Amino acid sequence: MKKLIKNGVVVTAVDQYEADVLIEDGKITAIGKNLGENVDEVIDAKGAYLFPGGIDPHTHLEMPFGGTVTADDFETGTIAAAHGGTTTVIDFCLTDKGVPLKNSIQKWHDKSKGRAVIDYGFHLMVSEVNDAVLNELPTIIEEDGITSFKVFMAYKNQFMADDETLFRTLLTAKEHGALVMVHAENGDVVDFLVKKALAEGNTDPIYHALTRPPEAEGEATGRAAALTGLADSQLYVVHVSCAEAVEKIEAARKKGLRVYGETCPQYLVLDQTYLERPNFEGAKYVWSPPLREKWNQDVLWNALKSGQLQTLGSDQCSFNFKGQKDLGKGDFSKIPNGGPIIEDRFSLFFSEGVKQGRISINQFVDIVSTRIAKLFGLFPQKGTIAVGSDADIVIFDPNAERIISAETHHMNVDYNAFEGMKVTGEPISVLSRGEFVIRDKAFVGKPGNGQYLKRKRFEAASVANTQKVLQ
Ligand code: URP
Ligand code: ZN
Ligand code: ZN
Repeated sequence: MKKLIKNGVVVTAVDQYEADVLIEDGKITAIGKNLGENVDEVIDAKGAYLFPGGIDPHTHLEMPFGGTVTADDFETGTIAAAHGGTTTVIDFCLTDKGVPLKNSIQKWHDKSKGRAVIDYGFHLMVSEVNDAVLNELPTIIEEDGITSFKVFMAYKNQFMADDETLFRTLLTAKEHGALVMVHAENGDVVDFLVKKALAEGNTDPIYHALTRPPEAEGEATGRAAALTGLADSQLYVVHVSCAEAVEKIEAARKKGLRVYGETCPQYLVLDQTYLERPNFEGAKYVWSPPLREKWNQDVLWNALKSGQLQTLGSDQCSFNFKGQKDLGKGDFSKIPNGGPIIEDRFSLFFSEGVKQGRISINQFVDIVSTRIAKLFGLFPQKGTIAVGSDADIVIFDPNAERIISAETHHMNVDYNAFEGMKVTGEPISVLSRGEFVIRDKAFVGKPGNGQYLKRKRFEAASVANTQKVLQ
């Protein structure tokens, strides 16, 4: 089956040029002019950009959390992702202490197989390090292609791991070629502040933010970076929300440490005042780390522009306002943490980033796709438009305007965190391995078409210095 996308403008992390793209059996086989006689289908992309499909490195689909389960599963979540221009997700596989890691991975395969409409991989949570875990991790890297491990420094008495666990995970990752990811907040301090607030009768959603101060995120980020240096390993800090954390990442990178940082759209466009919304509406914006004072947004944008932060994840972790978020009425600590972001990550970032002149179009591609593929062992199969790469392509109208709304979104959740925001630029059609998943804004894919991705080991060389090329 041969397809030819004609008249589009190909955009990668380093280039932008008019060309036709030939697709055969799911792969890009030629890029140029006057290509493809005898093709089965010609797709006219006049006036559109051709972007490599977005890669979302941070999702929680059908995940048990906060006494409930996230509202989007691998089917609804990946359909929404595809509408938004994302063709790969890497989801967090939770583990339980004392249970073989293989069993947890199987659980995640059971949730995703036959459901996902786009390709997907897993990160693996590490909450304890003992002989059993140390024996299993190398096999998981080799056989399951899971080359990134997540350690929670927060959520005391639930997911939180101690510093020894983090340090030994870093050492193992160094030895076997994996990337360690951290949720960086000081869980002990947060736990103390939460108990204190509740004891003082402070139960509203805004206290979620006030009990998770930026200093707690900065401290944990600095500690994780220091341990990474000591282990001579590699670290990826998820959902960076504030100046305190950016400073610690920047300082570590200046020392030459392999420390990378992700932020999320919500921290770039929303702020702490959203948690003060009346009638418990603030609960819609409860996630961790919390939204920060508005001035942090400029710090995050500048860090993306200068390359101190490298990626944009959604931290998709959707809970309905009615029936889930309201578990925390009268006690903010019981509001399930997380928000529905997977669908709007790509176009919101284009609109606020490229259209507003904060980042270049090549930086946009690097941050939402290419760099993520490189960090997580998927490049060049994913993350670029090049001969030999998977034909994961977004046909994107840069001038289309739309208003974000729960009325029109595709996530399985009753509100949208960006309700009413106007964005410019929209995916029109999306191909995954050469097949349309979205065509003229309609879903035409099939649950089960998404394939599980075994990822390569972490290679520092493949992620170094891209930003220098872009400037
Ligand atoms: O509040 C959040 N971010 N929920 C998802 C779990 C996590 O911490 O990433
Ligand atoms: Zn987290
Ligand atoms: Zn998360």
